[in-house]
Amino acid sequence: MEVVILKTAEDVAATAAGLVAKLLGHTPAAVLGLATGSTQLALYQQLVEKHQNSGLSFAKASSFNLDEYLGVAAENPQSYRSFMDREFFDHIDIDKQSTFLPYCAENENPRLVGPRYEQQIRDAGGIDLQVMGIGVNGHIGFNEPSSSLSSRTRVKTLTQQTLKDNSRLFSRDEFQPKLAITMGIATIMDARGVLLLATGESKAEAVSQMVEGPVSAMCPASVLQLHERVTVLLDEAAASDLKNRDYYDWTYQQNESLKSRFGVFHD
Ligand code: GLP
Repeated sequence: MEVVILKTAEDVAATAAGLVAKLLGHTPAAVLGLATGSTQLALYQQLVEKHQNSGLSFAKASSFNLDEYLGVAAENPQSYRSFMDREFFDHIDIDKQSTFLPYCAENENPRLVGPRYEQQIRDAGGIDLQVMGIGVNGHIGFNEPSSSLSSRTRVKTLTQQTLKDNSRLFSRDEFQPKLAITMGIATIMDARGVLLLATGESKAEAVSQMVEGPVSAMCPASVLQLHERVTVLLDEAAASDLKNRDYYDWTYQQNESLKSRFGVFHD
C-alpha cells in the first residue's frame, strides 16, 4: 500500500486527477472504476477542468461505478446515475453508453443485477483503476462492516451509521434508500489498481484501521492490504490517526527521488 499524505483536500484531488490523466495518456481506452460521495467531487472538478483546458479525453474510456441505490429511479436526482451525470459525465466527452452502474430497473429482480454487472465488467476486460472513497465505518462501495471479503456485486442493507452519515444529502420528507447494489469486495480486489481518497478528520479512524489495523471484515477497506497496487491519498486530517506516519512520508520522499532519477517508478 502506498500511503501519500498531502496538505489539503485540494492537493488530494489534484494528485488523483494527475494519476487518472496519466492512465488515460498511456491507455486512452482505460476502464475506470468510479465512485460517488463528496470526496470525489473535487476530483471530478479537476478532471473536467483538464478536459476543458488541457485536452484530456475520455472518448475511448469506459466506466463502472461502485454502487447504486435500490428503489431509486435513474432519473431521480438522488440516484448515483444522476450524481455521475451531473457532476462528471455531462461535462466530459465520455460516451454515456460506456458508463455503467449496477442499476435495477423497477420490475427487475435485484438478484439478477449483480451477476449481470460482473459479466459486463469481465466483457470490458476488467477495471484498470478503481477510484474510491471510504465510509466513516470503513466501508468501500456499500460493503458494510461484516461483508464477506469474497463478496461479488449484490444487494446490501445499509447500516444505521451509513444512513446517518448520508442523511445530510436528503431533505426531511425525501425517501432515503436503505438498500443498495454494490460491487463486492472481491470485485473491487480484481481491479488492476486502486486509488483511494480520504479527506477530513471524520475519516481518520477508518483510515488508520484500513492501513494499520488487522485485515478484517469489520473494516472492509482493510482488505486492500492484500492488493498489490493500491495508492491511498490522504489530507493531513484524514492521516491524523496513523502511527507509522513518518515512514509513509519518508517512503514518499524516496519514491519522488527515484522518479526524478529514473522516471516513473510507481505507476
Ligand atoms: C458512500 C458511498 C461510498 C463513499 C462513502 C464516503 O456511502 N457508497 O462509495 O466512499 O459513502 O462518502 P463521502 O466521500 O461523501 O464521505
